[in-house]
Amino acid sequence: MASFGFLAFLVVFIAPLVLGSLPCSPIDFGRGSIVCECNATYCDTVDPINQVELGKYMQVFSDKSGARFAISEGSFSDVAPPENSTAVKVTIDRNVKYQEILGFGGAFTDAAGISIASLSQPLQEAILKQYFDGEIGLNYSIARVPMAGTDFSTRTYSYNDVENDTSLSSFSLEPEDLQVKIPYVQMAKLLQPNLRLYASPWSAPKWMKTNNEFYGMGSLKPEYYQVWANYFVKFLESYAEHNITFWAVTAQNEPTDGNIPGFSFNCMGWTSSEQRDWIKNNLGPTLANSSHSDVKIIMLDDQRIQILNWTRTVLSDPDAEKYVSGIGLHWYVDALVSPAALDVAHSEFPNKFMLGTEACAGALPLEESVVLGSWERAEMYASDIITDLNHWVTGWVDWNIALNMTGGPNWAHNEVDSPLIVDEYMDVFYKQPMFYALGHFSKFIPAGSIRIHHETGSFAGLEILTCLRPDGQIAVVILNLMTENAVELQLTDSERGNMELLIAPDSIYTLVYA
Ligand SMILES: *[C@@H]1O[C@H](CO)[C@@H](O)[C@H](O)[C@H]1NC(C)=O
Ligand SMILES: *[C@@H]1O[C@H](CO)[C@@H](O)[C@H](O)[C@H]1NC(C)=O
Ligand SMILES: *[C@@H]1O[C@H](CO)[C@@H](O)[C@H](O)[C@H]1NC(C)=O
Ligand SMILES: *[C@@H]1O[C@H](CO)[C@@H](O)[C@H](O)[C@H]1NC(C)=O
Ligand SMILES: *[C@@H]1O[C@H](CO)[C@@H](O)[C@H](O)[C@H]1NC(C)=O
Ligand SMILES: *[C@@H]1O[C@H](CO)[C@@H](O)[C@H](O)[C@H]1NC(C)=O
Ligand SMILES: *[C@@H]1O[C@H](CO)[C@@H](O)[C@H](O)[C@H]1NC(C)=O
Ligand SMILES: *[C@@H]1O[C@H](CO)[C@@H](O)[C@H](O)[C@H]1NC(C)=O
Repeated sequence: MASFGFLAFLVVFIAPLVLGSLPCSPIDFGRGSIVCECNATYCDTVDPINQVELGKYMQVFSDKSGARFAISEGSFSDVAPPENSTAVKVTIDRNVKYQEILGFGGAFTDAAGISIASLSQPLQEAILKQYFDGEIGLNYSIARVPMAGTDFSTRTYSYNDVENDTSLSSFSLEPEDLQVKIPYVQMAKLLQPNLRLYASPWSAPKWMKTNNEFYGMGSLKPEYYQVWANYFVKFLESYAEHNITFWAVTAQNEPTDGNIPGFSFNCMGWTSSEQRDWIKNNLGPTLANSSHSDVKIIMLDDQRIQILNWTRTVLSDPDAEKYVSGIGLHWYVDALVSPAALDVAHSEFPNKFMLGTEACAGALPLEESVVLGSWERAEMYASDIITDLNHWVTGWVDWNIALNMTGGPNWAHNEVDSPLIVDEYMDVFYKQPMFYALGHFSKFIPAGSIRIHHETGSFAGLEILTCLRPDGQIAVVILNLMTENAVELQLTDSERGNMELLIAPDSIYTLVYA
């Protein structure tokens, strides 16, 4: 007993040395919660959670009142709680396993790169580390790279704006790629050796389209279906020259946008059957016959509400199905459709992964673009991630990794929010609550984790995700959406015992234990 006591003392004594995370430097803009400010010499960090002592758990905590990745330690108890306890009961069953997690990430848009480049060199590196470093940052393992311009560009362009150049002899990367995308993607690759990159186009060159414009209602002219597939290979080859290779491409960003009359930014319209035929006859065989035959194809890359129509149309054709690896989902109208649609898609096409390929706050009409310190937006992120992953989605990728103070630059004035907002004049960036919300998942549920079962009584306001990490430890994320009430939670793992937790209002917890 004495030696145990001594060990316990040692653990307590060394704990602060092990937990070397640098704390948040808070600023309150009066918008609900705080942001953490980073300047050229200071930025808060969070350490990874390595092997947790048996019988203990590590708790990472953030909340509306200002906690950011606050780390503490607790112990399991083998005393059964009283029968009449009113605590919400959650039972974790590590023997029931679901999908493997592909990871979490964000997008290297032109706007993100321009925003990062507007800061001094130490801050540029700090942003990349904040996201992609596994030791001090969020350990992002996925990133999206737009193929040429999006609305988050300062101009409209493609990689081949020479009319009728069907041989693509004038194809070339643009200054945006060379100056504000490739250098940062390369930094991210150095920080995260397992980085999975996927590329998405918003529009073909104008001259390939029915409306001869980058935006508005218009689609790819059928005579250019093959040229457009060749353009993908040119893109992959051009990035490979910069030592950047891709894990996947999506067939088209939001293919339904270009079917909407007057759509205000870069888009190109497809129906589900057009996407099926183009993948089957053009993109699929062209990639397969190129030096990038290992690049996966992700279909849809559009709203959840489309999922069943598109998967049924594309994947019920075996000649298209064989080329498709996954289904990309955007979160913007998730409120309009039950996540049960994801379960149906998974049961019909269990071999195709589902991945959240884009999400951001502040995008809906009448919404303010940037809200510095919005806790509500952190909760929206966490809630959507938990819901998606509890319905077979394998990961979640944010939109712009950084934006300016007004949520741009965006040529179409479709400004939105980002987890990192840069103020180039002050040479600082602000870490929004959304950054921490994403980190509660990406940092502690690394790629290769597997979702496991938990059983809970229905309890409005509390959302829970349970995963088995590659290191054999369990990660539990708990989101309390309730603004007033702390919730008593009793978490049981039959192999470990019980945890009694008082979950604070408006809070996110990640628990890790062996
Ligand atoms: C950077 O931030 C740290 C922590 O908030 C502060 O102590 C320091 O003075 C700041 N440096 C500058 C140059 O503003
Ligand atoms: C549960 O029962 C014990 C006695 O068995 C009592 O002391 C306690 O107040 C009860 N708690 C609740 C929440 O009813
Ligand atoms: C970061 O994520 C990778 C998987 O992408 C994982 O192998 C690695 O262990 C993680 N690093 C840390 C420090 O957790
Ligand atoms: C491109 O092709 C179209 C259709 O053949 C033709 O009308 C147009 O003049 C061509 N443009 C140029 C610049 O050659
Ligand atoms: C390409 O990147 C890898 C790491 O991702 C690195 O090991 C290699 O040296 C790089 N090659 C070149 C030519 O830069
Ligand atoms: C495959 O590519 C080669 C040239 O790289 C070409 O000659 C051949 O026709 C292609 N095959 C198909 C089926 O597209
Ligand atoms: C998908 O939607 C299109 C147009 O709305 C419709 O024509 C088609 O029949 C639908 N397909 C399926 C499989 O539901
Ligand atoms: C941010 O981007 C918008 C365009 O969306 C631009 O008007 C504004 O000047 C930019 N702000 C700064 C500080 O660069």
